[in-house]
Amino acid sequence: MGKANYQSIEKFLTLLRSSPSKFVSGQILANTAGISRSAVWKQIRRLRRHGYSIESVHGLGYRLKSDTQLPVPWELGNALRTRRLGHRILYKDMVDSTQSIAIAIAEKRTGTHGTAVIADKQRHGRGRLRREWLSPSGGLWMSVILEPDAPTSMITLLPLAAALSVCHAIRQCTGLDAKLKWPNDVMISGRKVAGILLDISAEAEHVNYSVIGIGVNANIDSSSISARFAQNAPRVTSLRDQLGHDVSKLELARAILENLERQLSNLDSGGASVILKEWQANTDMLGRQVKVLQNRRMVCQGIARGIADDGSLILQDGGREVKIASGDIRIRY
Ligand code: BTN
Repeated sequence: MGKANYQSIEKFLTLLRSSPSKFVSGQILANTAGISRSAVWKQIRRLRRHGYSIESVHGLGYRLKSDTQLPVPWELGNALRTRRLGHRILYKDMVDSTQSIAIAIAEKRTGTHGTAVIADKQRHGRGRLRREWLSPSGGLWMSVILEPDAPTSMITLLPLAAALSVCHAIRQCTGLDAKLKWPNDVMISGRKVAGILLDISAEAEHVNYSVIGIGVNANIDSSSISARFAQNAPRVTSLRDQLGHDVSKLELARAILENLERQLSNLDSGGASVILKEWQANTDMLGRQVKVLQNRRMVCQGIARGIADDGSLILQDGGREVKIASGDIRIRY
């Protein structure tokens, strides 16, 4: 998982990149990397599997045609401009759930702050409120371990801070008009494109660790997901459906982690109000009539007025103000 594990693949890529327009022969690759010809072939296969396009021509050798757009650790690690987030990255093609893996890592040892677990596909992705989260290949499914030195009261703002980071990242990487929907959904044109899940291990006043699960419908066909949802579930979309082409998940993961680090430092320095202000500036639900659902049943409705200091939603129901701590929201646009 550490950087050292990727030294051989990075060295190999440097060799291929050293002559971008020319072919490098298998023998030269083998000699310079100090590996056998069959190990060269294995590296080429591994790189292709990880999204690099490599041309091979008999008698000439190999040529790197294009770089990967997948958030593989050696590329993401080098691109990231963070102090701590993402300095350990675990990337898998397919897992049950990145969230379970991250929780298992955080349970086993300390010093895991900032570790990111990323997968291309999840068999048993988990959503909020014990829901299934469909996670086909092409999405960005990522869990980040935090060992925050923050009071438990701050924890309620973590998912809001994470959703804000994802919202900013989507805008920066795609130019799409992403908006926040309480509690922590990211929407485009009234359709859900990303969600946040928070798992916490805490005792009384102390948080041992938390794991932020981030699911972004990046390069997937959203109709394959919508078909499986309950009728009153929010409508979904994907970045690819909105843009008409794929996005670089490498860029997206980098932007999310960098934005997340900025929001976490806001939280650390007691800047909850900064997060709340930014959150409210990036939603279009304030002033609108909303319904609150718990266990799929409507429990109240009113006009969304704002977000309280603890992250709950403030609704105006006739003459009185109500604070909603959890639930799903339906908005009438
Ligand atoms: C939601 O219900 O809106 C939250 C969805 C969170 C999904 C992400 S994908 C990465 C991580 N692994 C999981 O199993 N779930 C979260």
